[in-house]
Amino acid sequence: MEELSQVKDQIKEFVEDINDPKSLELLDLLATGKMLRSKLILKIAGISQQSIELCAVVEMIHAASLLHDDVIDEAYTRRGKPSINALFDNKTSIMFGDILYSKAFTQLTFMDKEIAYTISNAVTLLSVGEMLDVDLTKDFNISYDKYLDMIYKKTASLIEASAASAAILANKDKDAFALYGKNLGLAFQMIDDILDITQDSSTLGKPALLDFVEGKVTIPYLFLYQRVENKEYLKSLYKKELSAKEATWLKEQFKSTNSLEDSIKLAQDLGNIAIKSIVNYNNQDLVYIMESMINREF
Ligand code: FPP
Ligand code: MG
Repeated sequence: MEELSQVKDQIKEFVEDINDPKSLELLDLLATGKMLRSKLILKIAGISQQSIELCAVVEMIHAASLLHDDVIDEAYTRRGKPSINALFDNKTSIMFGDILYSKAFTQLTFMDKEIAYTISNAVTLLSVGEMLDVDLTKDFNISYDKYLDMIYKKTASLIEASAASAAILANKDKDAFALYGKNLGLAFQMIDDILDITQDSSTLGKPALLDFVEGKVTIPYLFLYQRVENKEYLKSLYKKELSAKEATWLKEQFKSTNSLEDSIKLAQDLGNIAIKSIVNYNNQDLVYIMESMINREF
């Protein structure tokens, strides 16, 4: 998508505005992601100065949240490249996150009030979501409702707000697009959680099977826990560096209980709910975004 380079240029312009060479240097070191939120906004609202600026604001908020998240998670790779906390230190990652985040909010003050409200409210939700995520890693969580609430806040809320804001910009049905974004976001996080198990570390750009070691009981593990015979053995592997034998046992159990398969089905169901909510708009691009998000490999 050619337009995505316009979003990157816009982010650079916003950061140039700050007039701080170090911020520009750090911006250059950030690995570019899939820019899912921008793709959504541009497909819903079309390309205009306003929509490009909205994309830039959302991507800066997302980048800031990841800069903080990598400190919280003590993660040293991001999108296959060393994270800022690995290249520099935690302080730099937090402070650069603060710079991007506050600049994004400054730009938001020039935008439509309803958009500013929608985006800033989502940032509160995603911050609460991050705290829930950290709290949920303290003990083996077996509650699907808690998992769903956490991934809604941590991941889906900003995707929902991006879609809703784009709809506001384009004078389309805000609620329908919010529903699309919410379900797409939930499915997106579930697919992320599945890939942690099915992909190898070189594809993921971070260690594989990391979630369980870090205490995250994600959707495939929730299904597995319900279905596996030896629940105590599964629990004994929680937060542990796995031996090759243990990793093999885990993968075999995922297979024999259909836990991965059913997790993918659940993500697909949510994806289909997303599509249904905007069916009146007959937007093939948004169907394609959902399908390629489900079928991605990293
Ligand atoms: C990644 O989750 C984390 C998020 C999507 C949200 C993080 C939010 C905050 C740190 C709140 C602060 C917000 C701002 C704007 C400063 P993950 O760890 O499951 O995914 P990963 O494997 O990509 O790290
Ligand atoms: Mg993380």
